[in-house]
Amino acid sequence: MRVTTVIGNRPQFVKAAAVSGRLREVADEMTIHTGQHYDDELSAVFFDELGIPPPERELGIGSGTNTDQTARMLAALAPELAAARPDVVLVYGDTNSTLAGAVASAQAAVPVAHVEAGMRSFDRAMPEELNRVLTDHASSLLLCSTPAAVANLERESVLGEVHLVGDVMADVALAFAPLAQERSRTLVEHGVEAGEYVLVTAHRAGNVDDPARLERLVALLEALPFPAVFPVHPRTRARLAAAPELAERLERASGLRLTRPLGYLDFLALLSGARTLLTDSGGAQKEAYLLGVPCLTLRDRTEWIETVEAGWNTLVDLDPATALAALERRPPSGERTDLYGGGRAGERVRDLLAACAPRR
Ligand code: UD1
Repeated sequence: MRVTTVIGNRPQFVKAAAVSGRLREVADEMTIHTGQHYDDELSAVFFDELGIPPPERELGIGSGTNTDQTARMLAALAPELAAARPDVVLVYGDTNSTLAGAVASAQAAVPVAHVEAGMRSFDRAMPEELNRVLTDHASSLLLCSTPAAVANLERESVLGEVHLVGDVMADVALAFAPLAQERSRTLVEHGVEAGEYVLVTAHRAGNVDDPARLERLVALLEALPFPAVFPVHPRTRARLAAAPELAERLERASGLRLTRPLGYLDFLALLSGARTLLTDSGGAQKEAYLLGVPCLTLRDRTEWIETVEAGWNTLVDLDPATALAALERRPPSGERTDLYGGGRAGERVRDLLAACAPRR
């Protein structure tokens, strides 16, 4: 069986780490890296640390508007798929690379398998929501992380086959957590002590592209009563560079340490030791739950609703008063339920892919 995998962004490299090695035991996989994330700190470091097979093809398509980026990817993917003639195209998550992979494949009449299918925020203003809905309706095999995602797809009457497999990102977090927890050097390098600091990430277009929302984010970070480490994503860095007065406020905020984006192991190490995570990322919300770190989500909704229901995640949007109150609350006591498939999602993805097409 021939599988062509299309990836391009930091979280997709993590997801591929759970699947590629296993998939290559049973299929000929070829990976195409769209180039959506091209900086080494968002791309190469993940391939190195997680042992992902290097991409066979690199399209070098990064930056630009969502439309422009997706269109350039589509144009570049068509001849790649025509040459590779895969039995199935595998895509992950909800980025422009996901949508381009799905549409190019559907147009080439090749079945699409979508990992992390069915996630919904019910906010069509998010580019990711559009990418998810369109990808799911173009897919033949919809591989879901959670029962909530399965229910979303049932409501939308998608045409493809739907399976609950668990979450592939959870596989990787569980596998690498012991290694990350040994990296105490990372905490020393960032000048923080275990259990005493907040880890911050913020990069969603909805939070950083609108100057008024960006100002609210800065005000919230200025109000934090604990030391904090904030690895700044390139999108956020660019928006701050365009608003120097906000950048200066962040530089001056007491106890706040701004850093370059981190590799996977350093991020997991800092997350393991954090008192609380403050984030608008989807993946980090799950990782915090798996590591037993309370999360405050800088949005008014989340696709990973089960972390909220379990009492480990609070939606605070960009409201300092809500965030400060939530920071004081401690998480529920007792064992955390296994919400994401117990570290075996990658195996299930491999088995379902192997069952869907003959080996050539
Ligand atoms: C993308 C995804 C988002 C995901 C995030 C993970 C879409 C619509 N969004 O957002 O869902 O959560 O990746 O990080 O696909 N840039 C660099 N270096 C890079 C890549 C980007 O400097 O390696 C800069 C460029 O100026 C670029 C901007 O960051 O224009 C935004 O990058 P882009 O890939 O468009 O979206 P992300 O914000 O990274």
